[in-house]
Amino acid sequence: MRQELERLKTEAIQEIQTAGDSGSLNEIRVKILGKKGTLTSILRGMGRLAPEERPIIGELANRVRTELEAALEERGKTIALQEQNRRLAQEELDILLPGRKPKLGHCHPLQLVLEEIEAIFLGMGFSIAEGPEIETDYYNFEALNLPKDHPARDMQDSLYITPEILLRTHTSPVQVRTMEKMYPNPIRIIAPGRVYRRDSLDASHSPMFHQIEGLAVDEGITFGDLKGVLTVFVKKLFGEDRQVRFRPSFFPFTEPSAEVDVSCSCAGKGCRVCKGSGWLEILGSGSVNPAVLKMSNYDPERVSGFAFGLGVERIAMLKYGINDIRLFYENDLRFLAQF
Ligand code: PHE
Repeated sequence: MRQELERLKTEAIQEIQTAGDSGSLNEIRVKILGKKGTLTSILRGMGRLAPEERPIIGELANRVRTELEAALEERGKTIALQEQNRRLAQEELDILLPGRKPKLGHCHPLQLVLEEIEAIFLGMGFSIAEGPEIETDYYNFEALNLPKDHPARDMQDSLYITPEILLRTHTSPVQVRTMEKMYPNPIRIIAPGRVYRRDSLDASHSPMFHQIEGLAVDEGITFGDLKGVLTVFVKKLFGEDRQVRFRPSFFPFTEPSAEVDVSCSCAGKGCRVCKGSGWLEILGSGSVNPAVLKMSNYDPERVSGFAFGLGVERIAMLKYGINDIRLFYENDLRFLAQF
């Protein structure tokens, strides 16, 4: 038995020393020291020994157990250290690795154009006014010199909520609201916002689109001021090399009225965008009709004014060469990411 115990010890120590990880070390522990382990089964043979041999073998067995436990513990520490080092090596951070760039959003092209236009007019001393999208017949038509039976009401197919309330068909009602608020002070404002018309959506129409209204009221304002302001505006927005043309037109709330064209980027060679004419229509304008001033309490004998209204989508389409208005509302990232 003494030999058996000595052999067990040498073999076990050998095994313990070569164990590679904490799992196999634990298996060895169970195999030798466990309830059904080798040491235990050797000790079961103690009964066959002579009584005087028992304490000697018992002591030897205890020593072997203690030595093996010490060997297991030592190997266990080494393995734990190795395993920790391996884990640390695996988790090592490469602080020079380039980071993942978050995707940045893009400004919507309509917002870009809107902000650019606002900046131009703010630079000329205009401030920004606003009005409601749900409007009364009075502000949208009546106070703009379009009485109930006026044929020009047909120029704009309207979306009515009740016979007296509608979605505004243009930003011009903000002219009236501003005059009511500012009277009798001079006015120089632009008013951006959504407008609504009974149109079906196609490449060039949308039932909702954006306009920017302009209004100046003061003593001594002339049609020349209108021409000057809008010429500066067009050249700032489209480029100094572009020409500006004022064409006689009609709006019930301005008199005289003019439509404003900018020369096409094809420089008159004729292209699809200008349909060969060399000119692009971009806005409606005119001197404020004295009847409109009078309805909002301003004295047309004392003050005069000019007004204009432009379509933001149309300007964005011309500026960026966009040929379908629907692209603005579809939120296709392949489109939006280009701006
Ligand atoms: N409100 C007009 C439209 O929607 C544009 C306009 C505004 C014309 C101001 C003249 C003066 O077509």
